[in-house]
Amino acid sequence: MTALLMQESLQFLQTQSKTELIETFRDYVRINDLPESKLLDAMHYALLNGGKRMRPLLANIVGTMLNAQNQDINAVSLAIECIHAYSLVHDDLPAMDDDALRRGEPTCHIKFDEATAILAGDALQTSAFEVLATLPMSDFASGKRVEMVRELSQASGAKGMCLGQSLDLIATNETIDFDALTTLHQLKTGALLACAVRMGAMISPITTEEDLLTLSTFAAHIGIAFQIQDDILDVTTDTATLGKQQGSDEANNKSTFVTQLGLDGARKALNEHHHQAKQALTSLPYDTHLLEMFSDYMITRTF
Ligand code: IPE
Ligand code: IPE
Ligand code: MG
Ligand code: MG
Ligand code: MG
Repeated sequence: MTALLMQESLQFLQTQSKTELIETFRDYVRINDLPESKLLDAMHYALLNGGKRMRPLLANIVGTMLNAQNQDINAVSLAIECIHAYSLVHDDLPAMDDDALRRGEPTCHIKFDEATAILAGDALQTSAFEVLATLPMSDFASGKRVEMVRELSQASGAKGMCLGQSLDLIATNETIDFDALTTLHQLKTGALLACAVRMGAMISPITTEEDLLTLSTFAAHIGIAFQIQDDILDVTTDTATLGKQQGSDEANNKSTFVTQLGLDGARKALNEHHHQAKQALTSLPYDTHLLEMFSDYMITRTF
């Protein structure tokens, strides 16, 4: 497949993930009878007002590669994106990164108010698990509901994303070593991306233990690469392109790959993880071209 065709198939899947996320959230609201409210408006805003939807895209690519059913892919995608959206709402709060711009629009606490943003984040988090508990799934994926709740809670909680966010705050104004920085990135960002890959695989009956291990190795490298590129873009891209405040890390005195290793060092680390991710794919007995494309997109994306 030519590079152009591959790019088009990735874009097509990205658009598909967007449409399906919107429709699946609408189904979730209906099935669970959520009343219209300011809270639901704020949740809707945080979840569906733009964003690259990388995690749904990843779950979609992996699930499709393994012949998973669409309704199962859609449910896990929504659950993971709910956690991601909540993490961004809380990340932007004055107590954390204190940012006013997200996806080219006011952050949730600016658009609504701080208390509503905290609650919207809280409710999006519980929605993720309500989605896994209540949305229709195939018999096979239904049998995995509890396992998926464990997977998602562990990726996002006190040994996953939340721990990473806490380490990120502790490392503010500090110099930390390469290993600590890698762990921080792996937890705050890598864990949820890996969860998207793993859940995309868990809903398929053909996935073997070996596939899951290989995909986890791939995902670990992709996850760190994603945050390294986020750190690089914070320095190299302008606010309009980013859709969030350029230079936020420096303004907050964050420990990032760029502040600790310089731009060249960060790019070297990014290339190394990109290489390792693609290397892992070579041992998978499936058509991995879209995962390869996704890996390349990690290092070429501009926002
Ligand atoms: C931003 O995530 C925060 C990180 C984990 C680096 P994304 O870059 O995926 O944000 P959206 O969803 O596209 O806005
Ligand atoms: C945030 O990292 C990661 C999570 C929200 C878990 P950043 O603070 O670097 O994300 P941005 O740059 O604000 O999107
Ligand atoms: Mg942050
Ligand atoms: Mg931030
Ligand atoms: Mg950032």
